[in-house]
Order: sequence, then structure tokens, then C-alpha cells
Amino acid sequence: MCGIIGYSGPLDARKILLDGLAGLEYRGYDSAGIGLCMEDSSICVAKTVGKVKALREYCDASVRGTAHSGIGHTRWATHGGVTQANAHPHRAGRVTLIHNGIIENYHELTKKYHLEDKLVSQTDSEVAAWVLDSLYDGDPLEAIRQLMGLLEGSYGFCILFDDQPGSVYAIRSVSPLVAAYTRSGAMIASDLTALIPYTNQYFVVPEGKIVRLTPYKVHVYDAVEGFPKVYPEIMTVNWNMDAAMKNGYPHYMMKEIHEQPEAMKNTILPRITRGLPDFSDDGIPDQLFSDCSQIHIVACGTAMHAGMVARALMEPILRIPVTVTIASEFRYEEPLIDEKTLVMIISQSGETIDTLAALRLAHEYGSPVLSIVNVKGSTIARESDYVFYTHAGPEIAVASTKAYSVQLAALYMILCRMALVRGKFTDKEAMDFLTDLLDAIPAMENMLAQKEQIRQIVSHIIQSPDAFFIGRGLDYAFSLEGALKLKEISYIHAEAYAAGELKHGTIALISEQVPVIAIATQQHVFSKSISNIREVKARGAFVILLTKESSVVDENLADIRIRIPDLDDRFAVFPIAVALQFIAYYASLGKNLDVDQPRNLAKSVTVE
Ligand code: G6P
Repeated sequence: MCGIIGYSGPLDARKILLDGLAGLEYRGYDSAGIGLCMEDSSICVAKTVGKVKALREYCDASVRGTAHSGIGHTRWATHGGVTQANAHPHRAGRVTLIHNGIIENYHELTKKYHLEDKLVSQTDSEVAAWVLDSLYDGDPLEAIRQLMGLLEGSYGFCILFDDQPGSVYAIRSVSPLVAAYTRSGAMIASDLTALIPYTNQYFVVPEGKIVRLTPYKVHVYDAVEGFPKVYPEIMTVNWNMDAAMKNGYPHYMMKEIHEQPEAMKNTILPRITRGLPDFSDDGIPDQLFSDCSQIHIVACGTAMHAGMVARALMEPILRIPVTVTIASEFRYEEPLIDEKTLVMIISQSGETIDTLAALRLAHEYGSPVLSIVNVKGSTIARESDYVFYTHAGPEIAVASTKAYSVQLAALYMILCRMALVRGKFTDKEAMDFLTDLLDAIPAMENMLAQKEQIRQIVSHIIQSPDAFFIGRGLDYAFSLEGALKLKEISYIHAEAYAAGELKHGTIALISEQVPVIAIATQQHVFSKSISNIREVKARGAFVILLTKESSVVDENLADIRIRIPDLDDRFAVFPIAVALQFIAYYASLGKNLDVDQPRNLAKSVTVE
């Protein structure tokens, strides 16, 4: 949530900051702002409600003069509404500051520092800015060190001091920050998308340290007396700018849907040796799989839905309890986990704050943690005992697509290795399982080719305020993600229901022409699912049925049928996911909505 960026160097800071903010915009887009240290050493703040485009237009019209250092922010509102006053940067005396995170004790600090009459916004961030100004007596490092001791909550800050031209200071706690010294100058940002046009080498800002950008260097200091310098490990990123561009597609979401077969291959193929899953390059030992007595999967959003599919698949094969918990619930429960529980954390960004807190709680209980993460070097990856990196490349659209598929691929591979290690699969069964997983890739390609057909279907959905997704067993787990995709980008109220549960209440909501997206790919419950579909059809629902090519169904069972390629039931999720993503995409498009940046949402949720 919220994207922040800082720059100091020889180039036009305004351009670098605005371009960087455009790359970070998916983290929040309620308002945007920059603070520039102008050539005459004055500070110029420009901010607007709305997206970076509006800020750019405003700057073009109103900002005069040149700057070579500054800070920029794109906001996802937490404290205070979406207003100009609440937009960052905040000016407080000699301090100009941008913030990503939440300062939990801002009320106490407001009182302690008598700030009531000074505040012009409703934000916790402005309070931090005024406290810093109170602590500042010409020594930025000392003032920042004292501030760090006072704050409770999460933060990534970039800070300008009026009397320190050319220097940008930054600190973080929980909220992410990466920094780099590049040929174009010193840079810091919430994530790599802002740095990647300039460098592929970066470091993760360590918590508890203070970063200072100057035109010629990035300095990192320990926040203790004497401020000794520290030298964080330099990392190399393995994707380039192309991966973060739309490359001719109208939206990032459409591009990312199409990237799924490639992302699947990149995630699966390097981990197959002689036909069997092999995680030795990941450093994941078999003992992790043989020693556990239960699995606890914890995640949020789409990642949690991937976990729901894994649970439905794993329990019947492994015959041990597999639990899936939403991270924001898990962290405040007293979970029944111990050192014999394998806790699996799933996160595309590796920064979701609730998921991170769940990981830390699992460690308190002594559970080993295996994470499935897409972003290399992210906090969750760094804090986990073992990491299975998915190789989806950067996912920019807020609605997750390719990250979901590769999370599933990772989970399927882990299941396969685990079944092998625990004697539930023979070598032959494991090889067949992996072959089926690879066969899912052409099945996804087949679905990509059906997008035009799916585009035409959505006219039936977008006229309705509601839609229902139904299925049994694995099909129910797939439905959860279909409903989430549709609601988050088309704003149609969409619910997923276990088909057999409908008649215990939800069927009351089914009336003439209400769209029901019914998934029936699982043979062992196929006839039961068909009966449930008949029940909604009999009440006038408009049924869109997703089944396998070879499934035999009555012509009049559904209004529309989407055929997915014939493949083993357990792998149906892969082509189904593509079909459901297209349904959501075209529904959003059909309603003229912002596909990539739906209202109220952000890609990376770094506040509770
Ligand atoms: C947000 C995103 C979702 C994502 C969820 C979890 O809600 O919009 O797409 O599934 O966070 O994010 P993570 O990065 O932990 O997978």
C-alpha cells in the first residue's frame, strides 16, 4: 500500500520521480505528490487527488525550475479521506516527508508534542513529520534515530530537511524499501519496479538502519551512537523493464493472463530431474516433508485461494490434516500448531503485512516455515526457513492472475515431492503426476485461444448486480477465486458457494436471469453437481457451465457452455483459472471500469 520513491543525482528529479511513481501506482492511487529540492535550495511540494497522470499534468502547468533531488508518493488512503490535504508529502517546519504504513500511536504523539493546532491533515504521517521537526536541531541522523524510538506501527519514510539540500533520508520498519546507486544517481523506492529502468543491482534497506541518498552515493548507517556505516548485501534482479511493460496489450491484466504458460514452465521445469520433482537447488530438504504431522497454509486473497485448492488436493493423497487460514485471522488466534506442523506461507509480493505477522507467529510456536513467494528478497522470503520461489516475473495488475497459477504449480510440485517422500506416491505415480501438471500448460493455451468466445458471454453477466459461482470439491475451491476476480474488477457482487450448500439458504437469491457460473470438472461428484445446476436452472438462473470437452450433459442444462480440454480432474484448475480470469476481465471492460487499478484496492497490502 502506498508507493514511495526518493532520488538524488544529476538528472531531472521531477521526471525520475513521476516516472517512478507511475511504476509504483499499483500500490495505491488515491492521490499522488512529490517534494522537490529546487536548485535554489527551496522545497517545492506538488500534490493532487487522483492518479499520477493528474499530478504530472499539474506539475507541467505549475512547477517551474529544476530539481536534482526529491521524494514522491502515491497513496492508498488509511488515515483520513482522499483529499489534497491528506496527500503526501507533508510539510512540517523544516521537514518534508512521505510515508507508507501506519503509525499506531499517532494520537499519543499528537498530545505529547502538542501538535493539535499544527496539523493540517488527518493523517498519522503528518504527526510523524511534526515530531521529527521537533526533534531536529541540525543533525538529521540523530533526529531520525530518536523518531525511530518513538514510533509504533509500520513505516517506510523518505525525508527532506530544508537545510540539507541534495540529501534524501529514509528509514523503514516492516514496510518495504529497496535502494540502489545507479549511473543516473541514488534511488530508493517501495519496490523494484521504480528502480529497474536504471539498474538491476539493488539492496533491501535493513530495518533499524538509516539511509542517506546523496547525488554521488547511498550511505547506510546503524541507528546507534556514532552512526557506524553498514554495507547491505547487493542483490541482482533477474527480470528487466520489458517484463514490467504492457508490451502491446491493452492492460497489464490481459498481458499477465497470457504470460501464464511461460510462467508455469519457468516455475516447474527447473525443478524436474529425471521426471521427478527435485528441490535441491531451492535448499528444501525432504526431512521437512517426512517429519511433519500436519500442514497449515496461511495467506491472503488470491494466494489463500491457491491454498484452498491445495488443501482439497493434498488431504486425500497425504492423509494428514491440511488447514488453510486467512492470515489476518491466524495472527490473532492461538493456532494449533507446533514444531511438527509444516506452515506454508503463500504470498506473491512477500510483503503482505498480515501474512508476514502469521509467519512470525508460526516461528514463535516453533513451526518450520516454507514460503511460496514471487518477489525475490522480499521480507517473507528472507524470514522464512525455506523458500520456493515462483517465477511469474513482475505482476502489476491489482487482480492477481499469473501469480495464482504459479502458486498452484508450486503447491502441486510440493505435494508431489511430499507424497513421494512419505510413500504415498511411487516414482511412477510421481512422474505421471508431473506429466499431468505439464499437460495443464497446453490446456491453458487452449483456453487463451477461447477468449473471444468468453468475451461474448459477459454481456449476460454485466447486466446483473449479482453473480454466483458454484462447484463441489476442487471445483468449489476454483469458484472462490472466480468470484473474487469478478467482484474486485467488475464490482458485481459475486459469491462462491459449495453447490450442495445452496439449498440451505443461498438459493433464495436465485431468480430469473441471475448469472450462475457452474463448474463441474470433478468426476466423483459430477452427477451431484449437475443436480445442483438443475436446481438453479429450475429457478430461472442464467447458467454458464464450465465442464470438460468430453463431459456429457443435457443441451438445456446450461444457457452457455465453456469447454475446457480433457485432462485429469486434479489439474482442471489451470484452464478453469484462465476462463474465470477472462470472465472477470471482460466484465470489467464491458462496464468501462479500470481493469488494472480497481477502486479501493492496492496490489501490495502492507497495512493491517
Ligand atoms: C491484495 C492483492 C491480491 C493478493 C493479496 C495477497 O489483496 O490485491 O491480488 O492476492 O493482496 O497478496 P500477496 O502479495 O501476499 O500474495
